[in-house]
Amino acid sequence: MQKNLLRFYPDPCEKVSIKGLYLAHQLHKLGTAESPFVYANFLSSLDGRIAVEDAVQGATHIPKHITTASDFGLFMELHAQADCIITHGGYMRALGEGRLGNILQVRDKELVEWRKNNGLKPQPAVIIASASLDFPLHSSLQEHAQAVYIATGRNADPDRIRYWQDLGYPLLFTGEDLMVYGAPLIDALSGLGYKAIYLIAGPQMLDTVVREKQLSRLYLSMTHQLIGGKDFRTLLTGAMLGPEGNLILDALYYEQDSPPGSGQFFMQFGLERSTGTDI
Ligand SMILES: NC(=O)c1ccc[n+]([C@@H]2O[C@H](COP(=O)([O-])OP(=O)(O)OC[C@H]3O[C@@H](n4cnc5c(N)ncnc54)[C@H](OP(=O)(O)O)[C@@H]3O)[C@@H](O)[C@H]2O)c1
Repeated sequence: MQKNLLRFYPDPCEKVSIKGLYLAHQLHKLGTAESPFVYANFLSSLDGRIAVEDAVQGATHIPKHITTASDFGLFMELHAQADCIITHGGYMRALGEGRLGNILQVRDKELVEWRKNNGLKPQPAVIIASASLDFPLHSSLQEHAQAVYIATGRNADPDRIRYWQDLGYPLLFTGEDLMVYGAPLIDALSGLGYKAIYLIAGPQMLDTVVREKQLSRLYLSMTHQLIGGKDFRTLLTGAMLGPEGNLILDALYYEQDSPPGSGQFFMQFGLERSTGTDI
């Protein structure tokens, strides 16, 4: 059965299909190599949590009851439009240990076909941001012939730097200390010719790309659930933001009874990207 959403904004309010909703945004055409289109997608609870800490394991996770097939389908439609995705060392460790599923590739046949028909490579390049440089690579990256770059800071451990260089992986030094910073990272990816960059990393990377005015669009799914939890993560990690934290609503969709007994908003916000002289 075709699932529908209600579009509340922009008006007029109307029913729209979920399937193909984000694919229609044609994100792969919105950027240029000089000025790539950088986008991110997060799922948040009504009380602002994107993950909660597991008291037993001490690690954070996204509670299963806030996730839906609709949200994941839209996440993958965004993935399908990227020529490059940004993930991080923490995800590669979780993937290696089987704690998280593999989202490094577009698997859905229709989406793979869509990439082909729209002039994109079968799979996006993968950027792994890491300060520790201590993570395993996943075999699927080689199986799908994906370009892999490792982004880190100039003061990263020299032994770890050599380790990756000896294996033939290019490193992008995009920060003065151990960390990767948004502006030099996007500048380096622009230099590599990427035009549609999808940030699938966590709050630390979102923080630096927003703070350094590198994000073009934020997709935010907000489940109408209060989830509580004493230890939790929210969208950002750093100090208070100024005007760079001001977003403009471009679209708001409502899905009723999803997850069952609740509902969710799918929101899309525009941000003003830096031209390079104003940060
Ligand atoms: N609800 C959602 O939409 C959503 C989205 C994303 C994540 N989450 C959840 O939120 C929780 C925390 O997120 P997370 O663990 O993905 O991300 P995170 O805490 O922001 O970062 C985790 C790792 O990424 C690397 N990293 C991040 N920023 C970096 C930077 N600027 N420079 C260099 N390395 C950097 C570091 O790896 P190294 O240790 O290798 O240096 C770091 O340990 C998790 O439970 C996750 O599942 C939820």
